[in-house]
Amino acid sequence: MRTRTLLITVSTALLTAGLAACGQEARGGSRYEPDTGKGATIGLAMPTKSSERWIADGENMAKQFEKAGYRTDLQYGDNKVENQIAQLENMITKGHGLLVVAAIDGSALTEVMRRAHDAHIPVISYDRLILGTEHVDYYASFDNERVGRLEAEYIVKKLKLGKPDKGGDPHTIELFAGSPDDNNTRYFWSGAMRVLKPYFTSGQLTVRSGQRRMNQATTLRWDGGTAQKRMDDLISKNYGSARVDAVLSPYDGISIGVISALKSAGYGSKDRPLPVITGQDAELASVKSIIRGEQTQTVFKDTRKLAARTVAMGDAVLNGRKPKVNNTTDYDNGKKVVPSFLLDPVSVDKYNTRLLVDEGYFTAGQLS
Ligand code: GAL
Repeated sequence: MRTRTLLITVSTALLTAGLAACGQEARGGSRYEPDTGKGATIGLAMPTKSSERWIADGENMAKQFEKAGYRTDLQYGDNKVENQIAQLENMITKGHGLLVVAAIDGSALTEVMRRAHDAHIPVISYDRLILGTEHVDYYASFDNERVGRLEAEYIVKKLKLGKPDKGGDPHTIELFAGSPDDNNTRYFWSGAMRVLKPYFTSGQLTVRSGQRRMNQATTLRWDGGTAQKRMDDLISKNYGSARVDAVLSPYDGISIGVISALKSAGYGSKDRPLPVITGQDAELASVKSIIRGEQTQTVFKDTRKLAARTVAMGDAVLNGRKPKVNNTTDYDNGKKVVPSFLLDPVSVDKYNTRLLVDEGYFTAGQLS
C-alpha cells in the first residue's frame, strides 16, 4: 500500500515536471501562455476617469473590441502610477492576449513591459507613447506635433499677428504645457513653439512672466487646479493693470483652471474680455464654454476613430498580420522607433462646433 502511494506520488511529480518542462519550452521560458486569436481578452489600461475623454476612449475600445469578437478587461489607474503597474501585472498574470496602454507616466513601465514581453503579450501604446523600452509593438495616436501647431496658429490668427517680419504692437501671452511625464507634452510644445517663436523674436508677442521654457510651464498630471494656481500667480505677479491677450493651453482641463483664475482677476466682462484661450480634446464642458464665449478654441481628436484604429491594429497583431501604420520615423521612445498610426486632429472654435454634431460626437441637445 505504502509502495503504491509512493509510486503514484513519484509518477505524478515526474508528470508535472515533464509538463512544466514542455510548457517552458513552448513558451520560451515564460510562465504564462497568453490567449491569441479571436476570443482573446484584451487588457485596456487607461489613466484616469477624471476626464471624459479617457472614459470615452475606454468605452469605445471595449465596445469595438467586443464587436470584433474579443473579451475586454478595462481598468483605470486613477492617475497613480503604482495602480497602473499593478493592473498591468494582473493582466499579464491572467494571460490576456494583448495590452493597450495609455500610460500615466510614460517612463515608469519598463519593468512591467519586460514582463509582458516575457509572457509573449504584445503591447499597443495608446495616445501616449511608452518610453525607454523595446517591448512596445505599436503606437496609435493623433499627430501630436500638429495639435500644438493648431493651437498656436489659432492664437496668431486671432491676435491678427500677420507676418513676424512686419512688426506691430506687442501682445501678451502666457504659456502652459502638459504633464512632464507624458511624452505628448513635448510634441505639443514643440509644435506650438515652432509657430510662436518668430513672433517672440520680432517682439509682437511677449511672455510678461518670462516663463518661456517648457519646464517652467508644465502641469503635473494635466491638473486643472494646478493650472489655476499657476495662472493666479502669473496674473498677480506680472500683470497689474496690463492685460493678458492670449493663453496657450494644451488641454481643456487646464483651460478650465486658467479661465477660473482669469475670472477671479476680473476678466470676462465687457470692459475686460477674456483672452484667447486654446485647449484640446473637445470635452463637452469646454465646447459649451466655447459656445458661451469663454474658452476660444479646442482641438478635436475623435476618440472613436482612435479606438477603431487600435482595434484594427490589435486584431491584426493577434491574428499574425502586420497592422497598417503611417509613421515609422517620428516616435523614438529612447529604445526603438515605434511604428505608429497617427490620425489628424481638427481645430474647433465657436464657428465650427456644428462639426461635432454632424460627426455624431455630441447631439445638438448636448450643445444647446
Ligand atoms: C494627453 C492627451 C491629450 C489630453 C491629455 C490629458 O496625453 O494626448 O489629448 O487628453 O493627455 O488627458
